[in-house]
Amino acid sequence: MSVLTRRKLLQSAAAVSAAGIGLSAAGKFAGWAAPTPEPLVLKTASIEARLMDGAPTKNVLTYGEAGMPPVVRMRKGEPFAARLINGIDDPTTIHWHGIRVPNKMDGVPFLIQPYVYQGDHFDYAFTPPDAGTFWYHPHCNTLIQMGRGLTGVIVVESPKDPAFDAEMVINLRDWRLGDDGQFIEAFRPRDAAKAGTFGTLRTANWLEQPQFDAPAGGLVRLRAAITDVTRIYAFRVDGAEAAVIALDGNPVPQRFTPDALQIGPGQRLELAIRMPDEEGAIVSLRDVRGTKPKVVATLRSVGKSLKHDLRDLGPLEANPVPEVDLSGAGRIPLALSATAENVSADSICGSLGYSFWAINKVPWPGDTPDPTAPLAELKLGKSYIIDMKNLTPHAHPIHLHGMSFKVLSSSTRPVQPLVSDTYLIQPDEKVQLGFVADNPGDWLLHCHIIEHQKTGMTSYFRVV
Ligand code: C2O
Ligand code: CU
Repeated sequence: MSVLTRRKLLQSAAAVSAAGIGLSAAGKFAGWAAPTPEPLVLKTASIEARLMDGAPTKNVLTYGEAGMPPVVRMRKGEPFAARLINGIDDPTTIHWHGIRVPNKMDGVPFLIQPYVYQGDHFDYAFTPPDAGTFWYHPHCNTLIQMGRGLTGVIVVESPKDPAFDAEMVINLRDWRLGDDGQFIEAFRPRDAAKAGTFGTLRTANWLEQPQFDAPAGGLVRLRAAITDVTRIYAFRVDGAEAAVIALDGNPVPQRFTPDALQIGPGQRLELAIRMPDEEGAIVSLRDVRGTKPKVVATLRSVGKSLKHDLRDLGPLEANPVPEVDLSGAGRIPLALSATAENVSADSICGSLGYSFWAINKVPWPGDTPDPTAPLAELKLGKSYIIDMKNLTPHAHPIHLHGMSFKVLSSSTRPVQPLVSDTYLIQPDEKVQLGFVADNPGDWLLHCHIIEHQKTGMTSYFRVV
């Protein structure tokens, strides 16, 4: 298996921009409307896929006809369009995780857009303002739809990206399969009340511990997205020099070596890896969380050494995220806790029938059709600081839709001023996240451990 080389990358970029030139729907608005690219068709399908040895797994869900959902490539500042066609017998939508889209394009059913029923379609169109690694997934009945395969990676390219010798995009996720290779129950309530229910099979790009070839002595840009519904990783790279260059779609202010770097569901890691000089040398990406460290994927050096140097790698351009005005910022206290209340909420959008978790003492019903009031109403254009504390013994990857925040401080560790859409808050940690409420609409804030999201840890901000 070979990685995407720079030449192939350039070719695919050319293909994308060629498609972008074609004006679609040259109707009466053609005189002034911005050119809309040909929409990328993302059609949900139920397929059989070979995930483990033995019988193929039935009822695997994907976009497209075969295998893993495609890596979707966009270009920073250029219009993108996609048509979701629902080919499965379950209503769905697409959420573009981490991309700062207009509210109408955010893909949250009920709150923002209607469900897309079997045979129906919905057109998404937006211009990604930020370059980096993002991902896409449904936003309803997600424990089933994402758990069975509907999670794909997005790469937003920038012409200012530094040159690498190769790029590798990996989609990290688990599957809950029995010995016969078929899906077993999606979750166990007693686990949902703890760290969540883990998968039985771990994969990278739907493969168990895949190996990829990369040029010896070359610089590889590895983009990894954790699209699993539950698992938190702790990354280390063995056998090569590696540096974290971006997290959650944004360049890190200071590059560092990943040493058990924790990344939760919904988050993305970008590494620059300098391949060893010797042909055949193996580099491994490992998850060292928990008692049994695991190899996630490996890279094998091929060819004559390119003799490149990690220190020659240019910086990534910062994304145009507005600066928080700390002095005039409003405060939003946010306490994450367990709840004793055990209301069984409406199950229309995949609620699990339990409530175990709460934000500010409220076990939120989640994405239900009930008119639920927002957690806070924010003033358009004003700066805010979320004062978030974790009163539970578990870590939670808390995700905000529609706006990026900056990590200002943590009570337990020194933090870089990272710009992100998802913060993995540890037990007993208090953290301050600053952002400008510059995007009008209703924006979800939830834990990305889907069982937590669906049993109380979901709410939303209204920006008006
Ligand atoms: Cu990755 Cu509310 O989503
Ligand atoms: Cu959680």
